[in-house]
Amino acid sequence: MLKFDATVKARLDELISRYPNKKAALLPALWVAQEVYGGWLPEAAMQEVADHLEVSRAEVEGVATFYTMYNKEPVGRHHIEICHNVSCMMFGADQLIEHCGHALGIAKGETTPDGVFTLNGAECLGACCNAPAVQIGGTYYEDVTKARMDQIIESLKGDSPSDVIVPPQSKMPEQGRF
Ligand code: FES
Repeated sequence: MLKFDATVKARLDELISRYPNKKAALLPALWVAQEVYGGWLPEAAMQEVADHLEVSRAEVEGVATFYTMYNKEPVGRHHIEICHNVSCMMFGADQLIEHCGHALGIAKGETTPDGVFTLNGAECLGACCNAPAVQIGGTYYEDVTKARMDQIIESLKGDSPSDVIVPPQSKMPEQGRF
């Protein structure tokens, strides 16, 4: 079922107005599509983006499959992505992934049976100075310890990411949101 209603199309048109042409808005348009389609990009989502931006489906798929921030498979309501690149690895990312998986009862790449959490590794999140870094939806968490991870998971159970308190050390704009 197609999900781009008038409200979504208006959002896309507003985004498009910031760029020199429709195609240039492809990345943010995919981000909107992923949100509208429940956290991932099924074929219908990519087709709707292609139709609205008047670009080929192949161009949309090429971009969507290149960037890891676009999910090609369904994910849980809370998609936990723990950076496992060099800086974060040196500050315990692998142990943090293992700890998180143990806490959730899943392995990296899996989703909990209730569909609430998906756990994945991620390449550099651009927060190397505060490693290890974790991204959950649109929220960044930095200097994450095992204890902090437990706290985050508890906070997320039954809540939306916006209900979670962002740690004060976050250096992202708008208290860790983008
Ligand atoms: S290496 Fe993890 S944020 Fe850069």
